Amino acid sequence: MHIYTPKHTMSSVHNYQAISIKMGTIIWLIIASISLTTIVPVTACPPSDRAALLAFKAALHEPHLGIFKSWIGTNCCNKWYGITCDPTTQRVADINLRGESEDPLLQKSNKTGYMTGSISPSICKLNKLSTIVIADWKGISGIIPPCITSLPFLRILDLIGNQISGEIPFDIGKLNRLTVLNFADNKLTGRIPRSLSNLSSLKHLDLRNNMISGTIPRNFGKLRMLSRALLSNNKIYGPIPESISYIYRLSDLDLSLNRFTGPIPGSIGKMSVLGTLNLDGNQLSGTIPSSLMTSRISILNLSRNAIEGNIPDVFGPRSYFMVIDLSYNKLKGSIPKSISSASYIGHIDLSHNHLCGKIPVVTFFDHIEASSFMYNDCLCGKPLKAC
Ligand SMILES: *[C@@H]1O[C@H](CO)[C@@H](O)[C@H](O)[C@H]1NC(C)=O
Ligand SMILES: *[C@@H]1O[C@H](CO)[C@@H](O)[C@H](O)[C@H]1NC(C)=O
Ligand SMILES: *[C@@H]1O[C@H](CO)[C@@H](O)[C@H](O)[C@H]1NC(C)=O
Repeated sequence: MHIYTPKHTMSSVHNYQAISIKMGTIIWLIIASISLTTIVPVTACPPSDRAALLAFKAALHEPHLGIFKSWIGTNCCNKWYGITCDPTTQRVADINLRGESEDPLLQKSNKTGYMTGSISPSICKLNKLSTIVIADWKGISGIIPPCITSLPFLRILDLIGNQISGEIPFDIGKLNRLTVLNFADNKLTGRIPRSLSNLSSLKHLDLRNNMISGTIPRNFGKLRMLSRALLSNNKIYGPIPESISYIYRLSDLDLSLNRFTGPIPGSIGKMSVLGTLNLDGNQLSGTIPSSLMTSRISILNLSRNAIEGNIPDVFGPRSYFMVIDLSYNKLKGSIPKSISSASYIGHIDLSHNHLCGKIPVVTFFDHIEASSFMYNDCLCGKPLKAC
């Protein structure tokens, strides 16, 4: 996921060129360049980085795999499991500890990882960190150290699959290089900090399966680089902010299983690359914006809301749905005739509404089961009983 590009110290190259030009010989150029690398050797991680890592390790307990057994010796850049350093500066750049991974250590043991303890604030002393992945260890608890927002080079922060509680640091928006923020499958509470909208490099936001409440920041649409926003299964309430539709790179929006109310903004159907829209399991009301039927969306789940009115009769060749689930709402009227002009519908569920009338004869309905049409007021025709 993260491609590391070594940084060259341009200033030392320039200084050195100035000197060699004064000397005026190519020989000097070569000698000087050799001595430059031998006089200022950076061959091991600084003792302060090593001490910070050892303090980080001391707050954790990993009983099965022994991943920390490799954390020995003075050079933390040398074969410490999960640690990568900048090749030039030998500062710790990445902490990459995954409890479920392709790593031979995990595969050989035939177990998934399990680790307890907490994330020590000493991690914040590693101020050149670009990646923090402490993922899928199931048992790590405690809070996200608030000082984590002072790591200026952080690009990936992935703590998925632990038991981390407390709140998202209020000033998370300071991490202006952050591209991946993944706190899914934890026990976080509190609100989404207002400052989150300041993460102008953020591409991937995953807060699924926590206990986060409050509303979505109104200026969420400032996250112009965002391509996936996954907030499913929290306690987030209030309206879906219209500003979400300004995020023109957004391809996957999952707000399901929360407490959102109000209408679905029609502008969402006009987003240029949005392919997946999951709004199921909320308290959304109003009607289905007709723009959703002719958008780029191919996975649409609006199930289990309080959506009313008719299904918009605007299907056409641009309507391509792998999944369209409108079940458990208050839809009425008939199934629109235009649905037969959709270019594809793989799976449809219209059950548990108040629909009525004849089910249109559509080739791609042939493989749809009767259960997709059941529990309506008076639908009839194949695959239900004849009218
Ligand atoms: C790993 O676990 C699987 C399923 O539990 C089992 O079938 C397999 O024999 C195990 N392999 C080893 C090397 O223990
Ligand atoms: C977002 O960033 C701007 C500019 O750096 C700053 O003025 C503002 O206070 C930040 N907003 C929040 C909520 O932190
Ligand atoms: C749509 O959402 C509902 C409620 O969360 C879920 O039960 C259902 O499986 C989803 N439909 C599809 C086709 O994934």
